[in-house]
Amino acid sequence: MTSEKTNATLSFDDKTLELPMRSPSLGPDVIDIQKLYGQGGVFTYDPGFTSTASCESAITYIDGDKGELLYRGYPIDQLAEKSHFLEVCYLLLYGELPTAEQLNEFVPRVTRHTMLHEQMAYFYRGFRRDAHPMSIICGVQGAMSSFYHDSTDINDPWQREVASIRMIAKMPTVAAWAYKYSIGQPFIYPRNDLDYASNFLHMCFAVPAEEYVVDPIIARAMDRIFTLHADHEQNASTSTVRLAGSSGANPFACIAAGIACLWGPAHGGANEAALNMLREIGTVDRIPEYIARAKDKNDPFRLMGFGHRVYKNFDPRAKVMKQSADEVLGLMGIENNPTLQVAKELERIALEDPYFIEKKLYPNVDFYSGIILDAIGFPTSMFTPIFALARTVGWISQWKEMIADPTQKIGRPRQLYTGATHRDYVDVENR
Ligand code: SDX
Repeated sequence: MTSEKTNATLSFDDKTLELPMRSPSLGPDVIDIQKLYGQGGVFTYDPGFTSTASCESAITYIDGDKGELLYRGYPIDQLAEKSHFLEVCYLLLYGELPTAEQLNEFVPRVTRHTMLHEQMAYFYRGFRRDAHPMSIICGVQGAMSSFYHDSTDINDPWQREVASIRMIAKMPTVAAWAYKYSIGQPFIYPRNDLDYASNFLHMCFAVPAEEYVVDPIIARAMDRIFTLHADHEQNASTSTVRLAGSSGANPFACIAAGIACLWGPAHGGANEAALNMLREIGTVDRIPEYIARAKDKNDPFRLMGFGHRVYKNFDPRAKVMKQSADEVLGLMGIENNPTLQVAKELERIALEDPYFIEKKLYPNVDFYSGIILDAIGFPTSMFTPIFALARTVGWISQWKEMIADPTQKIGRPRQLYTGATHRDYVDVENR
């Protein structure tokens, strides 16, 4: 939903171009430069896309200055408090909160797709037991396109829908089995009598030898973590999914590409890196040493879980996550968890430090999430797979939006070439 505005005038060399401008429903206006090269013979240059809108989307909006995150217009803190993950999945996928009837139809559709093809269990056995779970879920997700040929035709809306539900439903099983494989325990099958978060926790922590009852407080915290990670505009992994999808690749392969990108420590891998950093700091008295390292231009060390390309105020997800950490660890009787104490003191000191204030660096979604996941019992290696599990619905919603856009075309950026100019081949004896 945009409105047309006056043109932007761009003058350079002997040219003056009128470029159309468009106003969004929220956020900055855009200058449409699609015809810039054709009319002006020049490219724009924006590595990292700091000032570039790569697409039009109606799914998620971030106001980095206000520290606001909206899923289809609904603030994340309201959804985290009042909604639940499968309802948020419906909202992201279809654009509106479901009626009770729509929800009662949607939830069983997901629940009844949580099992993997039995042959996929053998796929895990090709990995080393000490393989990082992200390497496993990236591989298993990519392999999924070889099991579900009946939902890989991206031009068939019904197949797109089936593939979407399958991936949202199966990712918890894929991730839980990666965890079980890494600890040498047997796979636990999904159960249709459990809700989405409880089912994931059961598949991770149950063993065949005894009954495992999911703690409802932990399940609620898990569900909230899924909601907080569900989507986030055109972040690196979502942009990867869109670019992969723009070539017509099947949805299972596109999501595998998103998982690969999310793994990086600058992105989804930061939750694992943040907890490892907090543990390395260990005690509050060592915080100044690490703050100094983070500020030292000659030291590559960064405060993991701090800073964000868009948020120049608090990441609203970090606020909810911090409250949830207090609540969950309090209910578990470990509110004095040393890592949580270090995190809180590190945040306090950093937010009073001129370096962090000037660069507008605040805790992001990854700063507190690991503390909760660690308290629940997950190893740090499972933190990013859990992020990927939750983000699958966001990746799919963005992919569906792109595929359904009649103006969609393959993404193919240009470049600023600074390499060798034309030169002729020289035989080896003459070099
Ligand atoms: C996620 O895009 C998304 O929406 C991602 C995400 C999502 O939901 O999809 O929100 C999830 O990826 C959250 C971010 C998790 N990553 C981390 O916590 C890793 C630590 N953070 C940084 O690496 C960094 O802040 C980024 C990658 C998050 C953002 O990088 P930018 O926007 O490219 O900013 P930058 O690297 O240009 O930094 C600006 C300045 C630099 O100093 P100068 O060169 O200007 O002197 O701030 C400094 C940086 O050195 N800086 C930090 C810092 N982050 C930035 N200094 C110390 N510690 C940090 N964490």
